[in-house]
Amino acid sequence: RKRVAVLLSGRGSNMAALLDAAKDPAYPAEIAAVLSNRPDAGGLDTARAAGIEAVAIDHKLFASRAAHEAAVAAELTRIAPDIVCLAGYMRLLSQDFTDRFRGRMINIHPSLLPLFPGLHTHERVLAAGMRVHGCTVHFVTEVMDEGPIIAQAAIAVLPGDTPDALAARLIRAEHRLYAEALRLVASGRARMSGDRAVLSAPETQSGPGD
Ligand code: GAR
Repeated sequence: RKRVAVLLSGRGSNMAALLDAAKDPAYPAEIAAVLSNRPDAGGLDTARAAGIEAVAIDHKLFASRAAHEAAVAAELTRIAPDIVCLAGYMRLLSQDFTDRFRGRMINIHPSLLPLFPGLHTHERVLAAGMRVHGCTVHFVTEVMDEGPIIAQAAIAVLPGDTPDALAARLIRAEHRLYAEALRLVASGRARMSGDRAVLSAPETQSGPGD
């Protein structure tokens, strides 16, 4: 199984969904460690409760963005993951960092990219009068929320939806999507080739009579 490090800043429900998927011994990835830039992130507690190494690297204790990122990179060198999953990690990453994990680092974003990169996606989807919303898992490149798309899921925007209602419905789709996208990457069925994501077809099932 591929070793995964998860970077997060908050609640960690996507991380928990990956942990859950990895309980299946046939799942091609396992969560080796969870890192947070916020020591009070709920995701750290969830990871610890599941017996996963959980490390806080508080960005407020560093003199610069670069110094904090270097500490995160050093920790990742120690953990030596095959794949890095960003799951609500709310820090901008330098090109050095994204280059180092090119093709091995993925992110989940709460919109149908390339629509609505950045923050407050649910509010902006409603303000734009969209009738669909969704989430995207993509390979991370130097431009935030812009790397090659691995997988997406869409949900309907319903009459009377508020940002909170939309977020609550979307997060359930995020959990399913992230587990499926990590499966694709860990099994080698999704990979980066140049600036593109390449997906290969699932192995065809052979059955009786084949
Ligand atoms: C998720 O909705 C994720 O898509 C979003 O933060 C939330 C984290 O929730 N990520 C971003 O906005 C990244 N730009 P979680 O901590 O419960 O997984």
